[in-house]
Amino acid sequence: MTDSQLSHVHRHRPATVPGRAPLLLLHGTGGDENDLLPLGEALSDGAALLSPRGPVLENGMPRFFRRLAEGVFDEADVCRRAEELADFVSAARESYGLAAPIAVGFSNGANIAAAILLLRPRVLAGAVLLRAMVPLNAAPAADLAGKPVLLLSGAADPIVPTRNAAQLASMLAGAGAAVDHQVLPVGHGLSQADIAKARAWLDRT
Ligand code: MLT
Repeated sequence: MTDSQLSHVHRHRPATVPGRAPLLLLHGTGGDENDLLPLGEALSDGAALLSPRGPVLENGMPRFFRRLAEGVFDEADVCRRAEELADFVSAARESYGLAAPIAVGFSNGANIAAAILLLRPRVLAGAVLLRAMVPLNAAPAADLAGKPVLLLSGAADPIVPTRNAAQLASMLAGAGAAVDHQVLPVGHGLSQADIAKARAWLDRT
């Protein structure tokens, strides 16, 4: 399969340093496949990067699934899009010869990564979830035994209530994931602290 035959518009940067887990970069609402490449480079020197564009448009802004309002998701669409993205990752791994990636998702991208963890846990080697919330209220029982997950939330996040982030952490931990949940004194946007913590976590994962 050539890269233009893969289901999602995307960027792929081959690894330049062997032995590092590939990163699956998942942007926030209004981002695209180019957005998080600098973040990926900052988080893991020389790792392969795979960065798809969300296929859903909301007023012209790419997203990974449909929502009915801010923080209110179309759960049938979350399931469908998570399955399609999981299939894209499997096909891209074959095309580019990649090991299972660690997802690095921000906001809407973190939410679809959390949905993949719940629905297709084998697709990801782990996940860094930046400002994620519960993507599915009716999630099936997943087996995430030992899967490493870093969840970084903002204490002053106007979009993700801290209680919702804590609920996601316990949902993932309840399914067996090794969850490190930290609440930073920040809002919804990314901070230097996110980058430092995610980088250190990836180094020891
Ligand atoms: C979402 O829709 O996934 C969340 O509300 C985060 C966002 O994209 O604003």
